[in-house]
Amino acid sequence: MKALILSGGKGTRLRPLTYTGAKQLVPVANKPILWYGIEAIAAAGITDIGIIISPETGEEVKAKTGDGSRFGAKITYILQAEPAGLAHAVKVAQPFLGDSPFVMYLGDNLIEDQLSQFLEQFEQQQLDALILLRQVKNPSAFGVAKVAPNGQLLGLVEKPKNPPSNLALVGVYFFAPIVHQAIAEIQPSARGELEITDAIQRAIDRRCNIQATQLTGWWLDTGKKDDLLEANRIILDSYLTPSVKGKVNPDSQIIGRVEIGINTEIINSTIRGPAIVGDNCRIENCFIGPYSSIGDRVTLIDSELDHSVILEGAKVLNINQRIVDSVIGQRAKLNVAPQRPKALRFMIGDDSQIELS
Ligand code: TTP
Repeated sequence: MKALILSGGKGTRLRPLTYTGAKQLVPVANKPILWYGIEAIAAAGITDIGIIISPETGEEVKAKTGDGSRFGAKITYILQAEPAGLAHAVKVAQPFLGDSPFVMYLGDNLIEDQLSQFLEQFEQQQLDALILLRQVKNPSAFGVAKVAPNGQLLGLVEKPKNPPSNLALVGVYFFAPIVHQAIAEIQPSARGELEITDAIQRAIDRRCNIQATQLTGWWLDTGKKDDLLEANRIILDSYLTPSVKGKVNPDSQIIGRVEIGINTEIINSTIRGPAIVGDNCRIENCFIGPYSSIGDRVTLIDSELDHSVILEGAKVLNINQRIVDSVIGQRAKLNVAPQRPKALRFMIGDDSQIELS
């Protein structure tokens, strides 16, 4: 059994963050989204992992993630020259995949459920494919599945006006090698991509044995700002273990579950968890509210923050009003003069500089 993680693509929905970096490396609770997928796959005992990368962001993904040893796995990087679709990525990975069955995992997705139970079902029932589904409120925004009462997958429709169910396709799929034949038989869609939904539909038409199964836990697709904040909230809620490695001066208050990294200084500030602060940060005269993640080397002075993500090296100064629901990119600088506007809501890209005066 192998794994294929898709970490190429354009990431247009997370611009401007993705102008300068891979969307799969955007951190959730200070850890790249991609790494949660790698960890989930390794936890299911799958250690031969291929990662699809793009020419634009591939080197960054490689440099940050490494050869897989930190996850107890072996990672092979596979370059996809253009983001020509999920099925195209599988085609490009064919030399790596060979005739092995594999789990395909979209690198910007997170699921709560353990993969091992699905792997067991896929292997025990000797399926051609096992598709994971999740009930959603707005199925028209997703690929939607039609499923028989015995779990057999009957059909897929991409973003339907009249959805046949409220079961959306989650970005995790188990495939037998027969999927390569189905992919070889499909044509690019109207948007010019080789769609994995078309390949699966093709396999259904060929009477392959495809089952669908529903997730019971949460599923997060972090491709957009609000989804990223939601992922951050859930991960902080579920997994944060309190630990203070940095220096908290006596005027400061740490309440609830808070993680503070090494060489970080907290001066005359309150941090209310769950929240995480990275290494080498300076937090002075601040209030940091729940569900905030602050990356390494961030400076926060005279500011208030709640339910927000601040990436590495950003500086936030003199924002006495509360910053909420915001994502602030790497090295961005935010500085507000004393006369302040009433409300601030941001999505600020890497290297941005904003001064409201
Ligand atoms: P998407 O989020 O569907 O596509 P995208 O990355 O181009 O994003 P956007 O819509 O914001 O422009 O892709 C899902 C995952 O698959 C994501 O991690 C990127 C990856 N991917 C590839 O590796 N190759 C591809 O050809 C495509 C389309 C996506």
